[in-house]
Formats: sequence, structure tokens, C-alpha cells
Amino acid sequence: MKIAMVGSGYVGLVSGACFADFGHEVVCIDKDQSKIDRLHDGVMPIYEPGLAELVGTNVKAGRLSFTTDLAEGIKDASAIFIAVGTPSRRGDGHADLSFVYAVAKEVGANLANDAVVVTKSTVPVGTGDEVERILSDSGTSHKVAVVSNPEFLREGAAIGDFKRPDRIVIGAENEFGREIMREVYRPLFLNESPILFTSRRSAELIKYAANAFLATKITFINEMADLCEKVGANVQDVSRGIGSDGRIGPKFLNAGPGYGGSCFPKDTLALLKTAEDYESPVRIVEAVVKTNDTRKRAMGRKVVDALGGPDEARGKKVALLGLTFKPNTDDMRDSPAIAIAQTLHDAGVNVAAYDPEGMEIAAPLMPEVAMKDDPYAAIDGADAIAIVTEWDAFRALDLARVKELAKAPVLVDLRNIYQPDDVRTAGFEYSSIGRA
Ligand SMILES: NC(=O)c1ccc[n+]([C@@H]2O[C@H](COP(=O)([O-])OP(=O)(O)OC[C@H]3O[C@@H](n4cnc5c(N)ncnc54)[C@H](O)[C@@H]3O)[C@@H](O)[C@H]2O)c1
Repeated sequence: MKIAMVGSGYVGLVSGACFADFGHEVVCIDKDQSKIDRLHDGVMPIYEPGLAELVGTNVKAGRLSFTTDLAEGIKDASAIFIAVGTPSRRGDGHADLSFVYAVAKEVGANLANDAVVVTKSTVPVGTGDEVERILSDSGTSHKVAVVSNPEFLREGAAIGDFKRPDRIVIGAENEFGREIMREVYRPLFLNESPILFTSRRSAELIKYAANAFLATKITFINEMADLCEKVGANVQDVSRGIGSDGRIGPKFLNAGPGYGGSCFPKDTLALLKTAEDYESPVRIVEAVVKTNDTRKRAMGRKVVDALGGPDEARGKKVALLGLTFKPNTDDMRDSPAIAIAQTLHDAGVNVAAYDPEGMEIAAPLMPEVAMKDDPYAAIDGADAIAIVTEWDAFRALDLARVKELAKAPVLVDLRNIYQPDDVRTAGFEYSSIGRA
């Protein structure tokens, strides 16, 4: 089957490469000429483990190609996926659907055969109805079904998630849509990944509900961590204790500096806007958004405290280890590191940083931070070291070398990757999250 993927970012490129790997013929389309040029040269526009190899293999096999020409790319495609960005709209937090609608218009104007148009972008309830209206207004004479197929992959583990998903959600309003989508996902069906067929509106809401629930779980354990610090408990024991209950589950219960990334912040905001529009408030999510926002700067203040408080901190130097919102990605969107660095800067603290993949993207977002080539260069002369992202490279730092290079042996572990006793025995003043 021929598949067109409009938007070749994180989701479009990974999904397109995986569909090609399943044997479909896939054309990835993007309006960003430089991105398409780089892909033609075998250069990945994002860092994602295994992606370069997967793309290379499938390009070589003739199943995967790239273009900026949408009309050409969608020709003969039975499924046309929309995988463009849906960022927060400036000013009000609604999802900005202008990219999705622009693609729908262009598809309508260029459709040359019957096809299913699939929104893979995360879009608010009712977007599929509007895409359907746009396509019908285009006057196309071809049979079109509009389907919602939200994506649940995680950056850093995207290929595995796409190929072995917990479930595939397909919101379709007619049999034509369901039939094509069954064909698209047949290889996964054979892998016994459950396919959940729903209405289009339910599918659209499932994605937001899933992200809001996960954001809630993270925020819940973060507040438990604060309480642990006050009452002398250990949040990792609390996580294990509640997570081993099958009704709760162990995932997303690692306390940290707050959630960030390309999805949770914007999707929780967009869900609040939908709830507001429909006068059906989701107060739990309102609290989650507020709590998470304030947490990021609070983490900056925690580092200031480790320096001896605001008066002592001024003029001192902090090394930030990790900048991306999580490991194994170069994505800096809404990373807690941005707010932490800003809080430190506001407190008159000089900041040096190292991240294995994120520095190129981070540099313009945090111009006041000195980017260094390796963790030890960042640590050199630092009055405190803060671990912000749990990259493997930071799990086994040479503590003797760290102590020698740093001006003061102060370690703030915002990801709880070290054992307090080990670090204290090595002579560090150590603080972490939710471990008294
Ligand atoms: N990143 C994730 O982990 C993730 C996971 C699940 C769902 N999603 C959702 O998937 C969608 C895409 O996210 P992303 O992270 O891949 O975004 P992205 O910004 O990495 O990629 C979007 C791409 O779309 C292209 N584009 C925009 N308008 C276009 C047009 N008219 N024609 C052709 N190409 C166009 C852009 O140039 C860009 O390359 C969003 O709705 C997001 O919420 C993302």
C-alpha cells in the first residue's frame, strides 16, 4: 500500500520509516526544504536512537522517499497522514491548528484518487470534523474518509514504541476508513498489538486524556516527594510501594524537576481550553498545570539553596548536567532546564552546562549559559553541580575527579540517580528529590 506522510518531524519521520519497514511504500513530505535535503543526504533532522539506520535501510530498499511536493507525494496514496505540529497558540493555550488545516486544504486541492486522510497530529475534539469540511469544500470528486489515529510514541524510544505499541487507536466514522486503516496496521495486528476502533471524537479525546493522566501521575509523585522531604520519608520507597499495586502501576512515578517536552505541557493546556469551551472543567488537570509550572523555578531555587541561599549564591558558578527534557533526545521544548537556568541567572549565578545531544538546540534558548564539551569541563570551578536530565553518561561520573575539579563538592541530584550514602561517603554535600 502507498502511504503519504505529510510532516516529517519526530512523529512523521519515525512513523513513515516504520511503515516502510513493514513493507509499505512511504513518501514523507515536508515543506521545510532544508529538512528534505538533509534527509536525501542521509542526515537525520532529529536525534532518535536507531532512526538513521532504519531510514537508510528503507531508502535503500526503495520503500521510503522524501519530497517537498505534496501533490506528487500523495498521488496514488491510499492513506494520507497529517503529522504536522500542533503547538500552543500564542496567547491563549489553544492548540494551533493552522498547520493541520493548511495541509487539509492542500490535500483537497491535489487529491487524485480515493483516500483516507488520517490525523496523526494531536488535535482537539472536533478537528476531524473541520478537516472533513475543508476536504468537502475543496470540491474533490474522490471518495475520502477522515480518520483520527493519535500517536503514543515516546521520544528516545520512538521506534520500539511505534513497532510494539500498547494499543493502536483508530477513530473512524465509516467502513471505508476502517478497512484502509486495518490494511495500514495489518503487520502490527499480526504482532497482536490491540487495535481499538472508536468514533473519531473519542479517538481525539483519548490522546489528550492519556497525556493529561500521565502528567497527573508525574505531578502527584512530585508533590509526594516534597512531602517526603518534610516528613522524613523516601519517595523512591513510596513509588515502589504504590507502583507495585497493579491498579496504579510503576511507570511515571519517578519524582523529578517537573514534566516538560513537546507534548505534556501543550496538550494539558489544550485540554483545559477544550474543557472551558464545552463548560466542563477538568479541575485536576488545572491543578496539575499550575503545580508543574511553579515546580520548575522551585528547582532553580533548590540549587540556589544548595549554594547557601540567595545572598551567598550571587556570583557563584553552577554546572548543569543535562538540558533536554529527558534523555535520548535532543528535544528542548519546555524542558525544565530552561526555567532552572533562568532562575539561576536571575539570582546572579553563572551557569555552565553540558548535554550529550541537546546543546545545539539549547544554546539559543539559554544564551546566558556557557555550553561545554563534556561534563567535566562544565564542572571545572563550579560551586555546585545539578543533574537535570538522567542521561546514562551522568550515572557513573568519576566522583574523585568531580571533587577535584569543582570548587565545592555540592551535588544537587534532581533525578535521584545517585545513592545518597555513596555520594556522601565520597565527600559530597548531596541533596536530591524526596529523600530526606
Ligand atoms: N514528538 C512527540 O513525541 C509526539 C508524540 C505523539 C504525538 N505527537 C504529536 O504529533 C504532531 C507532530 O509532532 P512532532 O513532534 O513530530 O512535530 P515536529 O515539529 O517535529 O514536526 C512537524 C513537521 O511538520 C512540518 N510541516 C508543517 N506544516 C507543513 C505543511 N503544510 N506541509 C508539510 N509539512 C509541514 C514541519 O516542517 C515539521 O517538519 C503534534 O501534533 C504532536 O503533538 C508528538
